[in-house]
Amino acid sequence: MSAYEIIEHDYDVVVVGAGGAGLRATLGMAEQGLKTACVTKVFPTRSHTVAAQGGIAASLGNIAPDSWQWHMYDTVKGSDWLGDNDTIEYVTREAPRAVYELEHYGLPFSRTEDGKIYQRPFGGHTTEFGEGVPVPRACAAADRTGHAMLHTLYGQAVRHNAEFFVEYFALDLLMNDDGSCSGIVAWKLDDGTMHRFNAKMVVLATGGAGRTYFSCTSAHTCTGDGGGMVVRAGLPMQDMEFVQFHPTGIYGMGALITEGVRGEGGFLTNSEGERFMERYAPTFKDLASRDVVSRCMTIEINEGRGVGPLKDHIYLNLSHLPKEAIFERLPGIAESARVFAGVDVTKEPIPVLPTAHYNMGGIPTNYWGEVLNPTGDNPDATVPGLMAAGECASASLHGANRLGTNSLLDLVVLGRATAIRTGEVLDRHKPIQRAPLEKVDAIMERFDRIRHAHGKTPTADIRLKMQRAMQKDAAVFRTGETLEAGRKELDAIWHTLATDVQVSDRSLIWNTDLMETLELENLMANALTIINGAAARPETRGAHAREDFPERDDKNWRVHTLARIDSNGKVSLSYRPVHDTPLTPLENGGVDMKKFKPKKRVY
Ligand code: FUM
Repeated sequence: MSAYEIIEHDYDVVVVGAGGAGLRATLGMAEQGLKTACVTKVFPTRSHTVAAQGGIAASLGNIAPDSWQWHMYDTVKGSDWLGDNDTIEYVTREAPRAVYELEHYGLPFSRTEDGKIYQRPFGGHTTEFGEGVPVPRACAAADRTGHAMLHTLYGQAVRHNAEFFVEYFALDLLMNDDGSCSGIVAWKLDDGTMHRFNAKMVVLATGGAGRTYFSCTSAHTCTGDGGGMVVRAGLPMQDMEFVQFHPTGIYGMGALITEGVRGEGGFLTNSEGERFMERYAPTFKDLASRDVVSRCMTIEINEGRGVGPLKDHIYLNLSHLPKEAIFERLPGIAESARVFAGVDVTKEPIPVLPTAHYNMGGIPTNYWGEVLNPTGDNPDATVPGLMAAGECASASLHGANRLGTNSLLDLVVLGRATAIRTGEVLDRHKPIQRAPLEKVDAIMERFDRIRHAHGKTPTADIRLKMQRAMQKDAAVFRTGETLEAGRKELDAIWHTLATDVQVSDRSLIWNTDLMETLELENLMANALTIINGAAARPETRGAHAREDFPERDDKNWRVHTLARIDSNGKVSLSYRPVHDTPLTPLENGGVDMKKFKPKKRVY
């Protein structure tokens, strides 16, 4: 029996994570009278959603005509035909309702002259099934949309009596022998106590794993904790090789400069002062999909047309925009550019570089958020008692590449979907099941082993090696050679972490050394699935650009990758089909799927 005393909690639902998806799930559960706990390692309004800038996509048509069918088409095309059409239809259809709901909850959207929600253009948002002009579809609260969303949802969740367990670090899932989940074990960071949360439903909403890379737009807290927990439970991750590089991270430190800048009329230039996107994407130019823009910027730099003394970045220009527009619509980026790049955006361009931004892949789910554990004869088999939503999940709304502002949409629509589904499947009269004690003991044994790790290599050194390897070998452009080198390097790094990590602080209260080591184990699980999935996919699709296989191969590779990791750090891969069938048949008001057939993705 474990030496750690465990404090018990019983809930109908436990949500892990308090970003946009976690809060929307928590709110939806609590609204139905379900006893709901939200367990989070940071205070809810400090979750990484706070950093989302440009907006939330919805075909409101406030500024120009738009339709959910066009939004659906753009998302399918943006995904490079790897997204699941049922999920994409569900989310794009629900988008206007989700935005109005946020408005009614109190989200302070920017406004048009006539008082409607303000919308701006974003990359890949078009009309007429990709044949028409760009459309302003991103509903924005200046350039602080995520910040506004997080505060709004937190207030609503508190209003509905959801209970928050703040600064609790989730260690692992409690999985039963029948494959179902019945809770989590968490470590309370400020007093060192250990907690078992027993629940009929666990929702993972732990965010992305941006910190697998050296330069990323993600907060230091984005360590892929849900992915780590799922992998240790023997469950797969899906499509992890698809990592989005945002075209405009501030050169050197990675902070996000919203695509909304280009939506408001900003543009990129190379060392010759050329607006080079006109050459690569004659129709949509700087508003092509972001994987395309990131690749074009990288080509410009690689061909010697980068700016700066080392010719290793690109300029983002907005000084031609009226000052009032900048300070009304983009105040946050004006501040970020001043603080982090020393630039006055009304006079000078911002130095930018593609920067790791978003994981399209994650814990496989259906569009209700139920976690999948595909078997040979059932690629859509679910795990009872376990759901996931938000960036940690792969539903798959984004396929191989996400459109800007579809992420905030994903959080609220699919976060809410977990609550709707839970309301349907959860038996309110059934007693809450507690997993056998030996399951808790196994979790505490791992915790104790890491807490007392006495190797020679500090956590920070191992983490830096992993981040540098990912940055070098699994970047915007990849080849079989770089991926193979990366795979080998990551195997060695995994081995160092497993056998030689040094944790020097043994205490239980605010032990950041220990917490960072636990986070590093989670990051490693994500990094291994990224690099192995990428090495095994010999094609170029969405954000996965193979120089040695420059074409998309729909015949063999229009499939979702599933990656599992064994206890020796070995990754095994399998595949499951993409969902082609949308939710609604054409005769019942659905879309005409003839328009959605895969074709070459040009902008
Ligand atoms: O550019 C941005 O504002 C980022 C938006 C997004 O990733 O959805």
